[in-house]
Amino acid sequence: MLTSELTAAEKVIPVVVVDNATEGAHVGEALLAGGIHTAEVTFRTAGAEAAIREMVKISGLTVGAGTVINKEQAHRAIDAGATYVVSPGYSDDVIDVCQEAGIPVIPACTDGSWIMRAIARGIDIVKFFPAEAMGGTSAIKALSAPFPQIGFIPTGGVNKANLAEYLAIPAVKACGGSWMVKKDLIKNGSWEQISALSREAVEIAKDITR
Ligand code: 3PG
Repeated sequence: MLTSELTAAEKVIPVVVVDNATEGAHVGEALLAGGIHTAEVTFRTAGAEAAIREMVKISGLTVGAGTVINKEQAHRAIDAGATYVVSPGYSDDVIDVCQEAGIPVIPACTDGSWIMRAIARGIDIVKFFPAEAMGGTSAIKALSAPFPQIGFIPTGGVNKANLAEYLAIPAVKACGGSWMVKKDLIKNGSWEQISALSREAVEIAKDITR
């Protein structure tokens, strides 16, 4: 899979924080029921790796690893079955591991210097994180002028209220966010609510013309 194939299929990439495989499986099923076919499972919990191993068994769900910040995590994510890797910053180490394994890697790049380094590594879609704090839609539009070949996945402060505004920018290939998989929804087992919020996000994305 290429990053462009992921973003062609999914306009919303849920950033998932789960503590164990059971939670991960529930979240994966709930996202699918809501029409979202991918989950970025973050390496922020001890249970992330086990959750990825479980979630990759769910038919129709593309499971990525998020918050991957070093070589060791990149190896563990790929061994667990993650089919793409997302970083909150730029790491040549992470990129090396992913490219050697033939796995799409999405580093976060928020200025021209980091974008140029990504381009030098053959990467054409980057995460824009933290999107709202780094200037939001106006920053992405400004960066698109010198880098028309680069696609962005804004994440961080994206929600149902501003999703349409981000997706209306041609350079924005998809948006990441946690609003449909908030911690309390997972802790309370509110799987139907996760599906409903996912469905709502998919509907918003469907209506975008650009
Ligand atoms: C994160 O790293 O938590 C993601 O960027 C999600 O950000 P959000 O919670 O603002 O959607």
